[in-house]
Amino acid sequence: MKISASFLSSYSIEKDIQKLNDTDVDFIHVDVMDGKFVKRKTMPFRSMKNIYKFTSKRLDVHLMAIHPKKLIKKYAQLNTEYITIHVELDEDIDSLIDLIHNYGIKCGLSIKPDTPIDVLDPYLNKIDMVLFMSVEPGQGGQAFLPETFVRIKEFKRKMKSKKLNIVINVDGGINLNNCTKLRQADILVSGSCITNSDDFQKTITKLRGGKHE
Ligand code: DX5
Ligand code: ZN
Repeated sequence: MKISASFLSSYSIEKDIQKLNDTDVDFIHVDVMDGKFVKRKTMPFRSMKNIYKFTSKRLDVHLMAIHPKKLIKKYAQLNTEYITIHVELDEDIDSLIDLIHNYGIKCGLSIKPDTPIDVLDPYLNKIDMVLFMSVEPGQGGQAFLPETFVRIKEFKRKMKSKKLNIVINVDGGINLNNCTKLRQADILVSGSCITNSDDFQKTITKLRGGKHE
């Protein structure tokens, strides 16, 4: 189990990033919002770049944007492991996946809570990860939607029948209670659960399902 730390509900991103450098967190989850796909809008790339250059961790970039092409080009310049776009876009998803891969970066497809998982089918042979939204995208600190458990189980079944091995990442409302039921996933994104805690490392270890101390 890997942990990807997000900052949507953090009040001091720079400080929290420094604190995360001292932990064994696997990724920094970068939420990018365009004000169209979701209501809120994140800072322009030139400011984001200045923030995320302070981390030694690999980035897991989540693009919540209706036209992600330019953002892909920008975020591909950073220390990026995954770039994830939304499957709900009215765009040529195949060519966006190819664009991400052409930069040598792994590609994720994110799916909102109400989108049927079959929508992912045409892309399963070419993606590296699925990012299951377990809240409506757009803000941190929301309550986890329990139907996510069934969706992940269904997706696992589908992968087994198709003999596929796609990384499962879950994003939104993850805490120390529901993480124990998410052992089917490979990565858990966590924002407020980590940034509201006193001891980041202890929380990360607990989220991962390991013992601390
Ligand atoms: C929601 C974002 C999430 C969110 C996670 O749109 O994609 O990454 O910030 O934060 P928590 O863990 O607080 O729900
Ligand atoms: Zn996210």
